[in-house]
Amino acid sequence: MAVSCRSFAKINIGLRIGPLRDDGFHDLRTIYQTLAVHDVVKVDAGKGVGIEVFCKHPKVPTDESNTCWRVADRVLRSLKVRGKVRISIEKKLPVQGGLGAASSNAIATMFALEKALKLQLPPEERLRIAYEVGSDLPLFLVGGTVLGTGRGEQVYPLDELPVLHCVIATPEVGVSTPTAFAEWDKKLAEQPKLTGSSHSDKINKFSHSVYEWLNGSSFSPSGVPDKGWDRAEALLLDLVRAGIENDFESVVFPRYPAIREVKRVLERNGVRYASLSGSGSTVYGLFADEATATEAARKLNETGVPAQTTVTLPRSGYWKELFPSKL
Ligand code: C5P
Repeated sequence: MAVSCRSFAKINIGLRIGPLRDDGFHDLRTIYQTLAVHDVVKVDAGKGVGIEVFCKHPKVPTDESNTCWRVADRVLRSLKVRGKVRISIEKKLPVQGGLGAASSNAIATMFALEKALKLQLPPEERLRIAYEVGSDLPLFLVGGTVLGTGRGEQVYPLDELPVLHCVIATPEVGVSTPTAFAEWDKKLAEQPKLTGSSHSDKINKFSHSVYEWLNGSSFSPSGVPDKGWDRAEALLLDLVRAGIENDFESVVFPRYPAIREVKRVLERNGVRYASLSGSGSTVYGLFADEATATEAARKLNETGVPAQTTVTLPRSGYWKELFPSKL
């Protein structure tokens, strides 16, 4: 039986990089937010053995290094079933763009394969497989607004944010995540030595900023927005006030000025909050209204930067839209 599953994108609202750990990963804090844009992953399970991946995009590997392949292999082993699994990825999201597409494709494979086999993994097994394959996979087991800690793989659902208008722009520059982390380490090594306590100060400051943001100083104590603001607009204002930032910008922008320029274009065109997503190259902008977002995307496209509008996807919508009745 063939099952199709939507594979949504994510952005990072703030990303604070902590110390390099003994296992080669960095501690981090981030807020992940799923978006309504998606790829489609189709999984077919039949008689025989082996896993095959199909994708027309030249930059997507179809061998055992593909995250979908790696997840499918683990799901089969965990469920103790044999079968021939065919995975087709219909790419619409940018590859290596900081939108978590490969991670999301892998989780969509897990969901679709379970359905195709008419079997279900226990939640803790889903989580184990997800974080074994990559730091950005577990967030897609939650969806919506998600706090990420540890190396990004420890995920906690946050309260649903209202739907926000969003522009995603992906300049055609490939940024390697491991290289961006290495450059961050190099930058820190060149700075006066950070002690363990300054590292934890930075992490704590991020937590405070997130707390401030999500508790919204623009809201009256009763939780009702102040007059004149709707909830989405108040949140955007508070996001800027809270000073939530992505640490990768300080190493990615100097190396790729074209990416920094995308953020500037958004800032000149009515964005309320703009940031690099993950290690890039996608820069996103959050807008108070659709018309301003559409106009900003048009301006970017005019300068040759692929850009599109979308909206943030709350958790309820994420789960509802995973398996559409028609694709
Ligand atoms: O977990 P994932 O496969 O996405 O990580 C890819 C690479 O990015 C890791 O091998 C590591 O070099 C780097 N990384 C890191 N700290 C993290 C996540 C990823 O250093 N928290």
